[in-house]
Amino acid sequence: MLDVLGVAMQHRFDGALWRIRVRNALAHFFVGVTFAFVFESWHRQLDEEDRDMPNTIFEALRESHAIQRTLIRRLLLSDVGGKRITVFTCLKRELAAHEAAEERYFYARILMDDRGLQSTRDALSDHHKMDQIVEDLEVSDHGRRGWMATAKKLSAELHDHLREEEKIFFQIAGKILSAREKTVLARKYSQEYARMHVKLATA
Ligand SMILES: [Fe+2]
Repeated sequence: MLDVLGVAMQHRFDGALWRIRVRNALAHFFVGVTFAFVFESWHRQLDEEDRDMPNTIFEALRESHAIQRTLIRRLLLSDVGGKRITVFTCLKRELAAHEAAEERYFYARILMDDRGLQSTRDALSDHHKMDQIVEDLEVSDHGRRGWMATAKKLSAELHDHLREEEKIFFQIAGKILSAREKTVLARKYSQEYARMHVKLATA
């Protein structure tokens, strides 16, 4: 009798143990699937962010240069009126955000190397010259005589400056900066450029 009771108890114990094991296995499975899904989404998001981010400071600066070239071209083609003012405002903010970020996270580093001293001086002088022309363009009447001639002057200065940076200064900076610095500066430049845009838009 005791033997029979013992076998029955053993069956109940095995059954309970089996249920616990199945429950644990299912719990592990669902936790695993959830974790894999969350991890995969997070990884994909990081990949997408990485894909959007420029890899080097030179790529980041070239992206900004492309925006400036587009905006100055649109400004020269604009008619008198609201659209001209909008394009001019965009260009003015773009130049200000770019110059600040570039001076802080590109030229400040290049300046510390003897090979970058002259390029930095030239570039900062160009920035200052362009800022003065932008100031001349900041008038209430964007259709007045001479306004477009001043805008063309800005275009010429800007194109000269961008060409000089891309053809000469970037080559010099390429020898000064390490591979890691090129990446770190790209990130810092992009963050500062975005911060300046927000600041200028809300000023
Ligand atoms: Fe520049």
